[in-house]
Order: sequence, then C-alpha cells, then structure tokens
Amino acid sequence: MVGPRKPTRPTGPKPPRKPSRGPAKGPPKPENSQAVTPASQRPPRPRSGSGPRTADGPRPSIVKGQRPTDGARPRPVPRPVPRTGARPSRPLILPRVERPARQAPILPGDLPDLGQLPSLLAQHVAAHYTPHRFEKATLPLERIHRDALLQLSGLFTSERPDLPAGYLTQPKYRGAYLLYFVPTGVATMMTVLRDSLAWPPSPDRKPLRVLDIASGPLTASLAVALLLPPDVPLEVTAIDASGPILDDGRTLMRQIRPDAVVHTLSGNLREGRLLRDLKGRFDLILMANFLNEWSVGGRKKQEPGEFVEKVMVDHLAEGGAAVLVEPATRTASHHLIAVREHIVENTGIALLGPCLGTMPCPLGAASMRDWCHAERPWERPPMVVALDEAIGHRRSTLKYSWLALGDRGQPVPAPNKYRAVGGPMRAAGAFRRYLCGPEGRVVALFEDDRVPATLRDAWRGQSVVVTGDLSIARRGPYEETVLRPQTPQRR
Ligand SMILES: C[S@@+](CC[C@H](N)C(=O)[O-])C[C@H]1O[C@@H](n2cnc3c(N)ncnc32)[C@H](O)[C@@H]1O
Repeated sequence: MVGPRKPTRPTGPKPPRKPSRGPAKGPPKPENSQAVTPASQRPPRPRSGSGPRTADGPRPSIVKGQRPTDGARPRPVPRPVPRTGARPSRPLILPRVERPARQAPILPGDLPDLGQLPSLLAQHVAAHYTPHRFEKATLPLERIHRDALLQLSGLFTSERPDLPAGYLTQPKYRGAYLLYFVPTGVATMMTVLRDSLAWPPSPDRKPLRVLDIASGPLTASLAVALLLPPDVPLEVTAIDASGPILDDGRTLMRQIRPDAVVHTLSGNLREGRLLRDLKGRFDLILMANFLNEWSVGGRKKQEPGEFVEKVMVDHLAEGGAAVLVEPATRTASHHLIAVREHIVENTGIALLGPCLGTMPCPLGAASMRDWCHAERPWERPPMVVALDEAIGHRRSTLKYSWLALGDRGQPVPAPNKYRAVGGPMRAAGAFRRYLCGPEGRVVALFEDDRVPATLRDAWRGQSVVVTGDLSIARRGPYEETVLRPQTPQRR
C-alpha cells in the first residue's frame, strides 16, 4: 500500500442499548479445556440435529438446552428468533454492498457467495459454544460472543507476543472466531483464489488435493469447497495446533461438501516431525492468517520464507500452487514480502500474484513505510453486521495481503498491465495513482480529466491496463517513475 490509510480496527464496544442483561464479568467457563488432542481420540460432539437454513433464514438464539439422551453434557439448541435478535422490528437488510465512493461498480458475480455457510456457523456456535451462564437466556448470539470477539480482535491487532499460545483451544475464542473471522476469511480466500492464477485448478485434477496449513476451522478449505464445481472431488488435509477447532472445521465441511474427504492432524508445526511425517503431494497449498503468528515465539526460529519453501518443495504436486493470505497490516504484508523475496532469490518457484514481475518488491525492505494490500467488496452476512454493531466496528470491505506461488513456470506479464497499489490522489490539479508492474512501482499521472474510469475507479489491488510512456521525474527529494498517457493531453 502506498500512502497508506490506517487499517481498520475495532474501536471498542458500543454500550448495549438495553443493558438489562449485560455481559457477565469474568471469562466464561470453558466448555472443553483440553489441550491439543488428536481428533481421532476425542469423543464426537453432540450435534444440534437441525438442518441447515438459508442465509436469509432466522438466526438461532439460545434457549434452555434439550437434554441429550446419550449421557453427554447438555447442550443448548438453536431456536429461531427474528434476525435482529433483541430488536425484532428493526430492518436488518443494509444496502446490499457498501463500497467507497469512486470504486468500480460491483457486477453480478463479483461478490463471494458464502451460500449457507453463515447460518451453518451460527447454528454450530449456538449448539456448541454457549457458556453455561447463558443457557437459560434468550440472548442473540452477538450479545453472547461480543466480549470474546472484542478480546480476540484486540489480540489480533496487538503485537503478536500478546496472543496466548493455543488460543483457539479456548472455547470462548473458538465461538467468536467461528462467528466472525470464518465468514470473513472464507470470503477473502474465495476472492483471492478467483483473482490469482492459482485458480481454477486444472480440470484433470481429480480429486483436488488441498493442504491447509494452520487451518483453524478449515477456513481456507471451505472457500475452495464453495468455489469448486460439484463434479470435482475434494480431498483436504488440514493441520493445526488446536484439535477442537479442527473438529469444528470437519463438521462444517461435512455440511458444505458432504462428499469431501477430510484428514486432520493436530500438533505444533514448529516441530518438523509433523510435516516430515506427512505423506503425499498436494495441488493447492493454503496458508491463511498464519505467518504473522509463525513469526513470533517459538524456540527454534525458522524464517517464514524458509518454512514456505520447505512446505512447497516437500509437498507441492507438479503444476500445483500455494496461496498465502495475511491481514492487511504493514507487519503482515511485510512477512509476505519477505517470503516473496526468499522464494524469488532461492528457488525456481514462480510468482503468480499479486506481483506482475519478479524484480525486488518495490514496497519491500527498501521501503518499510509502504506495504501491499488489496481491498474488495463483499456482502456482510447478517451475523457479521450484528457483531460489527456489537463491537462498534464496520468490516464493510475485505482487506488483505496475499501471495500466490506456483510450479507452472513464471507467467509472462501482459503488456501495459499494472496493479493499483495506492488510492487515487489529486496533486496540483493532476490525477496521480500508484501502480505496480513489470517496471516496479510507477505513478500514473494525468494532467487533465481524461483519466480512464478503469484506472480511477479500480479497487486497491485490482489489475488495470494503462498505456503510456515511462520517464523518471523528481518529486521533492525523491525520484519516481512516471507513467504518462500516450495520447496527447488537452492543456
Ligand atoms: C488466525 S488463525 C487462522 C486459521 C485459519 N487459517 C483461518 O484463516 O481462519 C491461526 C491458526 O494458526 C494456528 N497455529 C499457530 N501457530 C501454530 C503452530 N506452531 N502449529 C500449528 N498451528 C499453529 C492456530 O491454532 C490458529 O488456528
């Protein structure tokens, strides 16, 4: 990102409008405080038994639980309530998509379609992640999970050493993660996969073998499941430190793609044994929101680039691709840039995106001030809207950094193709926009109003075709490469 806006972060909770039943003090009693345990050694969780509902259907609330007959701990079951929970009369439907002014119109099919996933997540959380103290209450899920979400968001946006190891083994964090970060993460990965040359995988890949590293609840694999044509079989191997979150992912995958074959492995990826013992090669290796956790802690330091290289060399199938996604923060983006530079310098692995060339990243180490991120539209599921309201945040667009690497040979960049890495600017009456392309970073400069709409309105991170002449110009103490349109401009 150039001339960055501060990435959005939660600004703190709004006071509940009707604080008749505010959040209880102290942490909820863990439903399951077990440490990492292989999925195969844990008893299955009771399921709610209710079938999936559509995204437009009612959101479950919590009522006193039905007693399971198998002697397991009682669980609450979801009960339909109006989607607005405590305020049933209030219209829930926001404008279909919010987009910043001056950004490209959203065309049908542009938006990631989460299908039934948001309502499946709500049902799953209602059935499995209701702290005891809420079991008798009829509270909307966003009220129950608001505090944990706030804590988790705070941990994610703070310096990572604050993040407790194995945080997703804590039920309160799992519940909040599933409700909020999973829909966001799935929509983000769907967007990246559609944008990157790593997708679609070639049709002869049957089944499509996916390795999901630090998968959490299989977020990235769920994105694949939603995009993959139904006639292409899917086989997922998911690895994570938290066994219970892997179980959640397995349950969700079963509901989204009942035919998918899922293998889960729980353990610490820092112990090389886990990956050494992993057999086989994969067509798609996914790593989402992990490297920023990898980069802190751990006694045996391995640079993210070395880790990614090892995973790819040992486990990528011929012609396969790896897709890495991280938050849109400066630090996380620079982890990806470090991986990019390591891969370009040390391996023959191809750079599929977002870069349109392999020269050292112009937003990399030489320019720690800048970073590279993308922004895209999405339609917030009702639960994300409700949780945003509950925590005083608005995740109206998807923001992320990404990197796609492949075993398919370095793609030849299309002529005059650039990626918008900055927002549109006006300086001394001229239009300026930073782009990144085969020549590195350039600034497109239009001194009259004939700025092509595709360039003016492109979403950050979108690719655009701009034809022009390149020259070096001074701007204050700096030199910059300027791209001026070829056609003579009116004066
Ligand atoms: C922010 S979550 C991302 C989960 C998922 N990929 C997503 O995008 O939703 C980070 C995940 O990395 C896992 N993780 C962190 N360090 C790990 C390690 N050393 N070994 C295995 N998993 C780890 C955590 O358990 C957590 O599930």
